[in-house]
Amino acid sequence: MAIEDIPKTIWWEDDKVRMVDQSRLPLVGDILECDTAGGVCVAIKSMAVRGAPALGVAAALAVAAWAWNESGELETDEGFFATLEDVVQEIKESRPTAVNLQWGAERMRRLAYANEGLPLDELRKLLVDEAIVMVEQDEERNRVLGKNGAELLEVGSRILTHCNAGSLATAFYGTALGVVFAAHEQGKIDHVWVDETRPVMQGSRLTTWELMMAGIPCTLITDSMAGSVMNLRDENGKPFVDAVIVGADRIAANGDVANKIGTYSLAILAHEHDIPFYVAAPTSTLDLLIDNGSQIPIEQRAPEEVTGVGWSAVFESPSQEATRALDAITEKGPHAFELTRGHHLSVVRKGGAFQFDGWARIAPLNVPVFNPSFDVTPAKYITAIITERGIARPDFETSLAILAMGSGSRHELEID
Ligand code: MRU
Repeated sequence: MAIEDIPKTIWWEDDKVRMVDQSRLPLVGDILECDTAGGVCVAIKSMAVRGAPALGVAAALAVAAWAWNESGELETDEGFFATLEDVVQEIKESRPTAVNLQWGAERMRRLAYANEGLPLDELRKLLVDEAIVMVEQDEERNRVLGKNGAELLEVGSRILTHCNAGSLATAFYGTALGVVFAAHEQGKIDHVWVDETRPVMQGSRLTTWELMMAGIPCTLITDSMAGSVMNLRDENGKPFVDAVIVGADRIAANGDVANKIGTYSLAILAHEHDIPFYVAAPTSTLDLLIDNGSQIPIEQRAPEEVTGVGWSAVFESPSQEATRALDAITEKGPHAFELTRGHHLSVVRKGGAFQFDGWARIAPLNVPVFNPSFDVTPAKYITAIITERGIARPDFETSLAILAMGSGSRHELEID
C-alpha cells in the first residue's frame, strides 16, 4: 500500500463528472456519475464530495457539465451567458463556508466572459478543458504545499490532525495530510493522532483510511481526547504531539481561519501546551475580501447528524429466497422503511447485491440541536499558514497579502 493507491477524488471522464462517494466511505466506495451541474450540486450538499479544495474543482466541473451537456439548446450568446449566471449562482450557494466553491465557479465564469464572442461550441470545449486543468493544478499545488510544510517538521514528528484534509478533500494528495505525506516520504513522521471529528466522522472514516493506505502509523481518538493526548509525555519526556496540522475552508485577510467544528478548541489546547498549530491550505482558500473571521458564513447542518448515527452495508444474498424477497422490495428502485423510534432503513439493489443505508436515533425525539459545521480560529492561535506559494507567519495581514499577489485567489477574481 502507498499514497498513490488512494483513489482520485473527482475527475472528468466520458463527458461526465465522476467522483468517489465519500458519504459512505470507507465501507462502500461507489463511483458517482453526474452529467449536470444540478447533479454535482446534490453531491456537494450531500457531502458525496467534500473538503474545500475538492469543492473548488467540483464547482469548476459542475460548470463544465452544464456547458457540455445542458447548454446545447442555447444558441445565442445572450441565452448562454444569462443561464451561465444562474448556474454559477446555484453552485456558489450549494455550501456556504468553503470559499473554494466560489473561487472555482468564479474562475470558470470569468474565463467564459474573457472569451465572449467565440463560437459557443468552442467556448464549451474551453470550459471543459479549463476544469480538467483545474483538477490537475489542484494536485500539483498540494504536492508543492506538502513539501513546503514538511520543512517545518523534524525527524520523529508526532502530528495531531482534525477532520479530513487529506487526498479525498482535494483532487489528490491533500493539504494537512499532504504535509504529512511529504514528511513521511522524507522519513520524518513517527505517528499521527486522528480526531474522529463528530458528527460526520471525516477523521475516523476518511483520514485513518488514507493514512493506513499510505502506511503511516496512526491512532484514532475521540475529539474530546485531544487535550489529554497533548498533555502526555513518553518515557524520555518527549510530548506525544509535536505539531497540530489542520486544513481550512476559508482564511480571512487577518489570518482568522474557518475549518471543521472543533478546530478552534484544538488551537486553544495547542496554545496552552506550547505546541505549534499549523494550517495548510492552497491560496484558493484565501478570502482577502473579508477582513476577519466574523464575516465568514458558517454552515448549519441537519440535526440528524447529531441526534443519531448513520451506517451503510452491502448485503450479498446467501439464498435465492432472500434475493427474491429483496428483489420484490427494490423492484421500483430504492425502498425506504420507517422504523420504530424514528430509525430509518433503506435498501437498493446494487448489481448482484443489495445496499442498506441505516440511521439510528440516539438522542430523544425533538431534542433541540445546534449543529454548526465549522468554527473560526482566531489568527493569534495560528503559528503559520502553509500554502503552495510559501509559508505565511504573523503578521498574517501582510504575509498573506504578499503570498496571494498574482495567485488568482478570490479577491483577484472578483474585482471587475
Ligand atoms: O464538511 P467538510 O467535510 O467539507 O469539511 C472539511 C474540512 O473542514 C476540511 O478540514 C477543510 O475543508 C480543508 S480540506 C483540505
